[in-house]
Amino acid sequence: MTNHHSKRALPRGRAARAPRTATLVQRAFNGLCVLALLSPVVAFAKAPVDKQSALIAQGNYIVHRVGMCVDCHTRKDAHGMPIASEDLQGADLPFTPDHPVPGWVGRSVKIAGLPAGYTEAQLVTFLETGRTASGGTAHPPMPDYRLDEHDARAVAAYLHSLD
Ligand code: HEC
Repeated sequence: MTNHHSKRALPRGRAARAPRTATLVQRAFNGLCVLALLSPVVAFAKAPVDKQSALIAQGNYIVHRVGMCVDCHTRKDAHGMPIASEDLQGADLPFTPDHPVPGWVGRSVKIAGLPAGYTEAQLVTFLETGRTASGGTAHPPMPDYRLDEHDARAVAAYLHSLD
């Protein structure tokens, strides 16, 4: 009788445990499914921010390390070092041409934030084509840049991000 009872009880016990294990596995699986479904949503939501900060970082690199805008648009200290607190605020140029250059301008404009009179799109066009916001060309020694569209957008986004 005891034997018979335990023989019957055993399968019942197993049967009772089995669904619980299955439920846990199922729950874990469901959880993974939800994560798998959500992760592209999370990645998608984060992507524009990352793209914009990458663009701004690229612009910072071009302005300070490639285009050397700081050479003319940032005031220098007595040792000729750019003054960080005046970065890209416009400056009297610390040099003059040694022969007359028609249209030479001895002062650069503030380009931190955006140059006066420019939208971000107009600045992109200026850096790609040399055409200013008012439809003309900049005076020397402002270089006549021909950046590609991505680099121009990067510089404009970076300058726009500044005060
Ligand atoms: C060799 C010196 C020099 C360098 C380098 C230089 N600039 Fe200039 N920039 C000037 C001067 C000078 C002016 C004023 C020109 C004028 O008044 O027409 C100027 C004007 C400008 C203007 C206003 C143009 C207008 O007349 O509407 C913008 C925008 C500008 N610079 C952006 C930049 C950027 C961005 C860089 C770097 C990628 C840069 N500059 C590098 C000297 C320089």
